[in-house]
Amino acid sequence: MAKIGVLGAGGFGIALSVMCNKMGHEVTLWSAFPAEITEIIRDGQNLRLLPKVKIPQEIKLTSNIEDLQGNDLIILAVPSFAVRETAHKLQPYMGEGSVLATVAKGLEDQSHKRLSEVIAEELPQCKIVVISGPSHAEEVATGVPTTVVAASSSRQAAEHVQDLLMNPTLRIYVNDDIKGVEYGGALKNVIALAAGICDGQKLGDNSKAALMTRGITEIARLGVALGANHETFGGLSGIGDLIVTCTSMHSRNRRAGIFIGQGNTARQALEKVGMTVEGYLATKAAYELSKSVDVEMPIVEQCYLVLYKNKSPKKAIADLMGRPKRHESETIWLQTK
Ligand SMILES: NC(=O)c1ccc[n+]([C@@H]2O[C@H](COP(=O)([O-])OP(=O)(O)OC[C@H]3O[C@@H](n4cnc5c(N)ncnc54)[C@H](O)[C@@H]3O)[C@@H](O)[C@H]2O)c1
Repeated sequence: MAKIGVLGAGGFGIALSVMCNKMGHEVTLWSAFPAEITEIIRDGQNLRLLPKVKIPQEIKLTSNIEDLQGNDLIILAVPSFAVRETAHKLQPYMGEGSVLATVAKGLEDQSHKRLSEVIAEELPQCKIVVISGPSHAEEVATGVPTTVVAASSSRQAAEHVQDLLMNPTLRIYVNDDIKGVEYGGALKNVIALAAGICDGQKLGDNSKAALMTRGITEIARLGVALGANHETFGGLSGIGDLIVTCTSMHSRNRRAGIFIGQGNTARQALEKVGMTVEGYLATKAAYELSKSVDVEMPIVEQCYLVLYKNKSPKKAIADLMGRPKRHESETIWLQTK
């Protein structure tokens, strides 16, 4: 039995809080917004972000960040755009060597930093663990068997998370390639948007499979250029998360893509989804990052042109299909480029 603090009372923060409560841990769930806490107390659930998942009374709900002091583990479950500001607020309350696990998937806007780098700048006293993998909140909350990785440069911190959170419904593997795990998690959202666009255009299974396979290839190409291990992209936080995001209606990124494929602009699609669509900002970050390190990412580039330059999805797909001939193997292609 441990004391666990969760920041972010949206879909995933609630799912993990409910899971930790079932495991017998003492859970404090924090939201930056007092009104959100009031609504959750009134409704017994977050009707907007995770309807039908009842929040047990034993979970302490708060909008006072001081209440997160003295926990055995802090889980940061806010959207990527709010990671720096939330970590900053947490600074006075985290002790030396305390473990913080983050589940946010994205890159910081403008700086393109990985979120663990952002957190390390704000909370240098903490050991940071990244939890990632195919794990929809709706399924974690209801105990559907799920697998994730806990990645950290500190083996001890990753194992601390594994020890506290692993249970019969959540299997956790430790991993020391934090870069690979974060790039996989952030960039799969771009491919999920593209997969949604293909679905909105009523293309077939062949197209979706092509997008996923070539998508993970280019994510790995960028990740390896930035220091990640190639093997990580074939694991849970790479292809695993890509598969779940590209095939499920739980994915907001895929839903936004479907609206775009049906003829809406990116702005209209974001409004229709009505919740954070992290793939939108991730597309811009991935595009800019790929240019800055001179790594070719054709799907990311076409997705960027559709989202930010109003290129028609039909033309983007035609341009992807009409690219110059090349070898499938990365090694051979990179050697002969
Ligand atoms: N939902 C999932 O299935 C899932 C699974 C794995 C990882 N994640 C990741 O977890 C993170 C959170 O996702 P989610 O689905 O729970 O999001 P969500 O949109 O359901 O909830 C976001 C929560 O963040 C809080 N928030 C919004 N703006 C904030 C701010 N400026 N400061 C502090 N808090 C703020 C709100 O209180 C809200 O409850 C994302 O990075 C996402 O990629 C989500």
